[in-house]
Amino acid sequence: MKAIINTKYGTPEVLELKDVEKPIPKQNEILIRIKATAVNSGDVRLRKADPFAVRLFFGLFKPKTTILGSVFSGEIEAIGSGVKQFKIGDEVFGHTDMSFGTYAEYKCFPENGSIALKPTTILHQDAAVIPFGGVTALHFLKKASIQPGQEVLIFGASGAVGSAAVQLAKHFGAIVTGVCSTANVALVKSLGADKVIDYTKEDFTKNGEMYDLIFDSVNKMSVSDSLDSLKIYGTLILSAAGLFETLQGTWISMTNSKKIKVMTGIINHKADDIHFLKTLTESGELKPVIDKTYSLEQMVEAHTYVEKGHKKGNVAIEIN
Ligand SMILES: NC(=O)c1ccc[n+]([C@@H]2O[C@H](COP(=O)([O-])OP(=O)(O)OC[C@H]3O[C@@H](n4cnc5c(N)ncnc54)[C@H](OP(=O)(O)O)[C@@H]3O)[C@@H](O)[C@H]2O)c1
Repeated sequence: MKAIINTKYGTPEVLELKDVEKPIPKQNEILIRIKATAVNSGDVRLRKADPFAVRLFFGLFKPKTTILGSVFSGEIEAIGSGVKQFKIGDEVFGHTDMSFGTYAEYKCFPENGSIALKPTTILHQDAAVIPFGGVTALHFLKKASIQPGQEVLIFGASGAVGSAAVQLAKHFGAIVTGVCSTANVALVKSLGADKVIDYTKEDFTKNGEMYDLIFDSVNKMSVSDSLDSLKIYGTLILSAAGLFETLQGTWISMTNSKKIKVMTGIINHKADDIHFLKTLTESGELKPVIDKTYSLEQMVEAHTYVEKGHKKGNVAIEIN
């Protein structure tokens, strides 16, 4: 099968199209013919080993994971003898969690992985971009026990996580303000945000508005300045926090006089979340946002674009 292989850390050019052996499903596994995947910000971090801590988990000198990609949409081509939930021909989508390997024509998954039947209303490339931002936003909004009527601000509202967070917060009944640059104001409004702040023209920490929940999805805002915009008992989600912001968040949670809770950490992956996102997609409440679509052969170009940090929603990869 065709796959994008990376045997060293580095620039997008380390990604090479090669022929590798097609996997065979074990007893409890399904073999998926991948029709689409996506290039996410997380793939770029792994490719570059940035931050350095990536090397502690994924290989000190060279990557142990030689096929990147964590999301997919495709069709089941074969199943192991013990598989009960799926059958050959089912169209499915999902997230690989830490096993990666979706920059390829085929991948085997355990049937109890983060997989669900693909939403019937959309194409494979649309389905493939839902799990990365969708599961991340859902994980943190549920952890924060988001409530109807709450005032919620999403910072980085035009990214993969942010665009899902805006739509999910609306689904949960919140009053949503999205923060993005001028070029993305119309997009964020179209996702249902009640108000959009253009960060090139206005600093939300200085406009006097107060929120129950502030969700920074891109690690680009000032954490300390944002505290003044949170109500008493408010929640601050730092889904893209690095080591510094994680420590800063722990300190704020322990010492802040407004009893603000700060949430950071790595998300976990569950099939239930993928099922939930499928349902919302089919009801039209969650729309996949795709900026650009590339082929597997154009992976270097796709990574170069995503690394710039200004994609609108997601970058999809179609695999023929
Ligand atoms: N905790 C976890 O387990 C977990 C899971 C998934 C992802 N993450 C992390 O989440 C982060 C975000 O992921 P993502 O894929 O959503 O990012 P992304 O799609 O690459 O974010 C792109 C968006 O960021 C916005 N942006 C760039 N600079 C900005 C600035 N200075 N101020 C405000 N917005 C700015 C851009 O909007 P403009 O062009 O308008 O500036 C663009 O739309 C990554 O660091 C990833 O590692 C964490």
